[in-house]
Amino acid sequence: MKKTLIAIILGSDSDLAVMSQAAKVLEEFAIDYEITVSSAHRSPERTIDLVEKYHKNGVKVIIAAAGLAAHLAGVVAAHFPLPVIGVPLKSGTLSGVDALFSTVQMPPGIPVATVGIDNAKNAGLLAVQILATSDKSLKEKLIAYKNSLSAGVIEKAGKLEKLGWQQYLADKK
Ligand code: RP5
Repeated sequence: MKKTLIAIILGSDSDLAVMSQAAKVLEEFAIDYEITVSSAHRSPERTIDLVEKYHKNGVKVIIAAAGLAAHLAGVVAAHFPLPVIGVPLKSGTLSGVDALFSTVQMPPGIPVATVGIDNAKNAGLLAVQILATSDKSLKEKLIAYKNSLSAGVIEKAGKLEKLGWQQYLADKK
């Protein structure tokens, strides 16, 4: 039976394009997840109901993403006893700095693990890493993923050293 381990809550459907990167990571690691929209400001009751439902159903990590005066991750963390990952999103005249400060500057007692502005991919990876603390096969997959990152860097370095920077840049165009 499908058991949702991670939930992604978006402050708005306008956040979906960026946050699809987190969903993509969860799919790559074959994690069962849910994704929905609920705003801390526009639908506060729904947000709390959702978080309580996730808690009751055994969700282990919630990723909450919002832009502007981003209170979603903080409100979710206030109602959820397990890890909450906040993704501040670039939006409006302050380009996400407002959301970053709102998400990261939580009062002592209610932590939100905040990733960089629009860094949905890292939110997905961090959620997988949290699950991997008690899942050996997931941990193996993460080790393989990190090895692939390292191999990618080594391959690029070899190419750059062989071609020289001018040709490397020309090939990239
Ligand atoms: C935030 O306000 C949302 O998370 C979104 O990033 C931003 C704008 O929302 P929309 O006006 O596009 O719905 O609450």
